[in-house]
Amino acid sequence: MIRFDDKYMTFHMSTPKTSYVSAVVDGSYLGHVYYGPRIDDMDLGYLMKTEYNPFVPSINSREKVRFMEAFPKEYAGAGTGDMRSICFDVRNEDGQAGLQLAYVSHHIFKGKPTLSGLPSTRGDEDSCDTLEILLTDSILSMNVYLYYTVYRDLDVITRSVQIENSGASTLFLTNVMSAMLDLDPTTDMEVITLHGSWARERRIERTKVDYGTFSVESIRGESGPQDNPFMALVTPNTTQTTGQVYAMNLVYSGNFLASVQKEQYGKLRMMMGINPWHFTWKLMRGQTFTAPECVMVFSNEGLGEMTRTLHRLYRHHLIPKQWETAPRPVLVNNWEATEMDFDLDTLLEFAREAKTLGMDMLVMDDGWFGERNDDSTSLGDWFVNEKKLPGGLKALSDKVHEMDLRLGIWIEPEMTNSESELFKAHPDWVYQLPGREPGLWREQLVLDITRPEVFDGVYSQIKKAFETAQIDYVKWDMNRPLCEVGNLVLPPDQQGELMHRYTLAVYRMQEQLLTDFPDILFENCSSGGARFDPGMLYYSPQIWTSDNTDAIERLYIQEGTAICYPLSSMGAHVSACPNGQTRRTVPFDTRAKVAMAGTFGYELDTRNLTEEERSLIPGQIEIFRKVSPVVVDGDYYRLASYNENGIYDSWAVVSRDKSLAYMTYVQVKAEPNKKPIRICMQGLDPDKRYSVRVVDPKPHVFEDRKPEELADVVQTLSGGALTNAGLIVPRLWDDYQALLYEIEEVQ
Ligand code: DGJ
Repeated sequence: MIRFDDKYMTFHMSTPKTSYVSAVVDGSYLGHVYYGPRIDDMDLGYLMKTEYNPFVPSINSREKVRFMEAFPKEYAGAGTGDMRSICFDVRNEDGQAGLQLAYVSHHIFKGKPTLSGLPSTRGDEDSCDTLEILLTDSILSMNVYLYYTVYRDLDVITRSVQIENSGASTLFLTNVMSAMLDLDPTTDMEVITLHGSWARERRIERTKVDYGTFSVESIRGESGPQDNPFMALVTPNTTQTTGQVYAMNLVYSGNFLASVQKEQYGKLRMMMGINPWHFTWKLMRGQTFTAPECVMVFSNEGLGEMTRTLHRLYRHHLIPKQWETAPRPVLVNNWEATEMDFDLDTLLEFAREAKTLGMDMLVMDDGWFGERNDDSTSLGDWFVNEKKLPGGLKALSDKVHEMDLRLGIWIEPEMTNSESELFKAHPDWVYQLPGREPGLWREQLVLDITRPEVFDGVYSQIKKAFETAQIDYVKWDMNRPLCEVGNLVLPPDQQGELMHRYTLAVYRMQEQLLTDFPDILFENCSSGGARFDPGMLYYSPQIWTSDNTDAIERLYIQEGTAICYPLSSMGAHVSACPNGQTRRTVPFDTRAKVAMAGTFGYELDTRNLTEEERSLIPGQIEIFRKVSPVVVDGDYYRLASYNENGIYDSWAVVSRDKSLAYMTYVQVKAEPNKKPIRICMQGLDPDKRYSVRVVDPKPHVFEDRKPEELADVVQTLSGGALTNAGLIVPRLWDDYQALLYEIEEVQ
């Protein structure tokens, strides 16, 4: 619900449990009043200290700059007195900066506008309302439209910004953040971000917010594994179930900046948007620039509530509609088993074994095209290597489908190698700075897909290849960051647009792919999980989480990823041991139980399985098919964190009607002679009674009980007991053991 009170000039936005209030002060300045637990009063002007005006500039102009530097704003422009972090900056044709935004008008309407060329969360007249506020700078003849969309059944407010040049002269935008939040907390605050690297993505970081500015960012041309476009400010007491959380998540896959500044008075300014580094946007008369959408969530019930709100938003309003609750196929991917050393026979053997074991799909990874036998060649040559695949994609696809399996394929459209037909014909198609040798990464060069001829040259090849066969799934990879970003086409005053234009071109190509092949299941990937962001989820309902498939490392990675992204979006596979990244050997059963928290599949050689593995796989798949609907459509609860306790991990998924839950417990370290571990469930109905049983306990060795004793043990407990007293998990011999519990309502 969005209300405007013309007496107090106040905008009041409310979701079921939160309120967001802003107000026009002194007839001109758009100020931030409140964000937090829901309150319905309209007269919140006292928070702006408007009752002891005349501090405002119209009355006390001799102290205008003092006002500008302290007034809590909705969107702060640069150069006219606000000395804090700035979210908007513009230069005029003379190179001068300085702007001041004044309120002009507003408009409240049902539904939600889409953002031109950019992904954004979806909403219609039944699910949300939008407030558009028009601010203007009359000297620059520039209109700034701030959009706030409020969901009716989710505690979410999304924000976006559009800048319109309504004058005759050209403007140069040098900083356009998507959202800013001026907070005046009553306690110290902490900030949570997701930090990492290749094979170590999205570790949860938590640190005190101190005076100065703390920021995370990407300047890599993708969101990257180092930082994620997610930031949450939390009160120090915040746990999964308690405390206040202010979260922002940017629906964008390029360079971003997320920052929080503690300024001189101890107030906080949080913001998120496109990274201003290497960003200038030339805005000519009549043109409009649209900044990406920023999702904001406030939770008064800890991190878990924030997580579930984001998950629901992304599942129901972001990922492609047809995958909202659709079960995901169990796949086998050949990458870790063969890398590029495969041919038709190898793949068909994989497929036959996969089918026998109960899988749904074969995914052919990197190496099927051009002369690609190692990673030094052929990116950009999207025609089949007939030496490996005689009869082309069609022959493979026909044979795989004859086995009643689906077929997936790997592509990396944004890249080329100097050893490729494409590069030899078009050496000018890659990003480059004149006079400098473009730097290689995995021997790759980045194609300048912002140019229409490059975009079409690559995309038309891929389309042609796909049209020869039935492709059911596409894994879109991207294996290097951008640097030496310049092109030989745009004029000098637009070179600063290239980073953002690149991201827009990636979106355009993904949109095109989905338009041409609407039924494919699409998975994004970038050297593992370097592009795990809401922008990508708009196109692909799932994203490869990490090249690190070690089940124990995955506990960190999946906990961090799931803090904001739905479990159903996390690509997770069982791979061979000793693990390729860590050399660790984890029981096959544990690998499967950890992968079941995501999309589930196998990334190993189905031809060389041990007898034990072969005997376990059909059962694992059967269990996954039961767990998967709750993973896809239920709620996720983080119950214990190996990241925090160093010993064990636990999470649960609970169906929306609270009748069925699956709880996973992983004993990372065996500890002798310790008190039993109790896992307190969350999300159950305290008044319902539930049967509790360990699913498939066979492979485990229990310190205090025989496995077969557990197989049939069904405890019946109330939701209240399971939540408050908890479940005592049996002690297991040895490290790296996992248990899966089925908790089902009994009538
Ligand atoms: C990086 C991906 O993360 C891997 O899964 C695999 O597809 C390789 N690229 C292929 O080059």
